[in-house]
Amino acid sequence: MNILILGGGGREHALAWAILQNPKCDRLVVAPGNAGIAQIAECAQFDICDGGAVVEFAEAESIDFVVIGPEAPLAAGVADRLAEAGIPVFGPSQAAARLEASKRFTKEVCDAAGAPTAAWARFDAAAPAKDYIRAQGAPIVVKADGLAAGKGVIVAMTEAEALAAVDEILGGGFGAAGAEVVIEEFMEGEEASFFVLCDGETVLPMGTAQDHKRVGEGDTGPNTGGMGAYSPAPVMTPEVTEAALAQIIRPTIAEMARRGTPYRGVLYAGLMIRDGAPRLVEYNVRFGDPECQALMMRLGAQALDLMLAAAEGRLAERQVNWAEDHAMTVVLATKGYPGEYAKGSVIGGLEGLPETSWEMMFHAGTAEVDGKVTASGGRVLNATARGRSLAEARERAYALAEAVDWPEGFYRRDIGWRALGAA
Ligand code: AMP
Ligand code: GLY
Repeated sequence: MNILILGGGGREHALAWAILQNPKCDRLVVAPGNAGIAQIAECAQFDICDGGAVVEFAEAESIDFVVIGPEAPLAAGVADRLAEAGIPVFGPSQAAARLEASKRFTKEVCDAAGAPTAAWARFDAAAPAKDYIRAQGAPIVVKADGLAAGKGVIVAMTEAEALAAVDEILGGGFGAAGAEVVIEEFMEGEEASFFVLCDGETVLPMGTAQDHKRVGEGDTGPNTGGMGAYSPAPVMTPEVTEAALAQIIRPTIAEMARRGTPYRGVLYAGLMIRDGAPRLVEYNVRFGDPECQALMMRLGAQALDLMLAAAEGRLAERQVNWAEDHAMTVVLATKGYPGEYAKGSVIGGLEGLPETSWEMMFHAGTAEVDGKVTASGGRVLNATARGRSLAEARERAYALAEAVDWPEGFYRRDIGWRALGAA
């Protein structure tokens, strides 16, 4: 079959790498792709958030299946346009994508489903929002309702920080995403990412991971899109996993179906676990980046069969075949990220790297310029490896990272510290 992936980051490179291992894939196109993806698949350039443009391309190129990587095209309704055109698609409808696009919507669904999550309130005016914060006290969490590229969440340790966050969000600092503010109870515990596939009805757990959001070692410094991840997440014991499914995920999927907006695709639940009890932090309607890189390394070719089954409503007949393995991905970022950074530096040392089912250097923000791979973003490369133990996966991933010759880049050297320290 002819397959089209929308997106151009490390997540999409990992999806492309896994899909290409499946003999069902005859031809793979990725839009827009990046320098690493271009080495394994065709890349195409069009506006991936324009449903009409995506359908036009898919029809012209006889595409049989579309996998949507990032949230922006999902929130823009690209899956709906493809479905209307009769093209099978992996990714939720615009209505179902509100589970990521609106924090207020997610809170309302959780309340209706009885899913445990932080106590919350919503406001569209600053004065009552501030009264609420003063009444609750700090720490407290202030969020822009809409999509804010991962920057719309302020975990305020002081009341003053929370009050300032309200002004920033409602004052237009996040554009339309900040028309409303959601204020939440601060939850303590250990975080984990839980990925499940859904076909509207059936839920199939696909894997767990833990990422490192802070830029600095020891989980310090500003938040990023994620500096590394590993799978599985030790905190997701069978008991915690079953509690998350029974109390959070399945009730959410049932509530979405009841509302007439069934959920199809991958649902990424960010969980906070304390004393063995999971609570929902947030949903995302796509794979995490870089968690996806670790997941794909573990799933390999079966990822395509699973995504097809989710798209076609056949998940009940499928299972995920897990090996007793572990995977880790280490993000190489441009110095300065997540603040300001320069683009265009040349990355050396990529040619001789091993590319096996145990180790892959996935590209995130790279572009080819004059035959050379250059950095075109903040998060640039993902050194990803698998092992029989997490320690073995870490050794391979860091060997890849160290082989790269890129003075303008940096990476955290402690990915997996929590799991490895406990081991
Ligand atoms: P997000 O950008 O939506 O992924 O959220 C960023 C991070 O904020 C989450 O991964 C959590 O670490 C933290 N966070 C969000 N909501 C809460 C909450 N209610 N309590 C504690 N931490 C939170
Ligand atoms: N790694 C976090 C995310 O993809 O949202």
